[in-house]
Amino acid sequence: MTRLRAIRAIGLGFCGALLAVQTASAQMPLPAAKPPDGATLFKQQCATCHTTNLSDPIRQGPSLFKIIGRPAGKMDGFHYSAGFAKADFAWDEARLDAWLTNPQQMIPGAVMAYRQARPETRAAVIAYLKELN
Ligand code: HEC
Repeated sequence: MTRLRAIRAIGLGFCGALLAVQTASAQMPLPAAKPPDGATLFKQQCATCHTTNLSDPIRQGPSLFKIIGRPAGKMDGFHYSAGFAKADFAWDEARLDAWLTNPQQMIPGAVMAYRQARPETRAAVIAYLKELN
């Protein structure tokens, strides 16, 4: 092989490799828009009214410290609306899901000014609360 041919052969090989890379990237699916995680959602949608600990001052709503398994309407020092007096259950994932969908349907007269129609958003927040438990 002459020197010139050798250089050309290397050049061709290089172009081929470049082409292969370009083709591969063209075939890669676009990354799907990632939905915000539960922690972020909680911060954006719940934290103005709820803390998740017992040390910060109570906000508009009761602390959600260890909320999964906690009896409804029993956080010390929080004045719940009247309907909570009749609430005789502990919070689980299904009840939290119903509550976040429509608080007033679950507990008549509830004063929580929040509703979340998107099941995946409710699920992400509930999964986050479960993690904290
Ligand atoms: C605008 C303020 C506000 C926002 C936003 C809000 N809440 Fe509430 N939440 C309240 C209030 C007020 C109550 C008490 C309701 C009552 O007494 O009727 C409450 C009660 C609750 C309870 C019942 C607690 C218990 O001790 O039984 C849960 C659970 C809860 N909220 C979860 C959430 C979650 C999760 C979010 C976010 C996805 C959220 N809330 C967003 C104000 C809010």
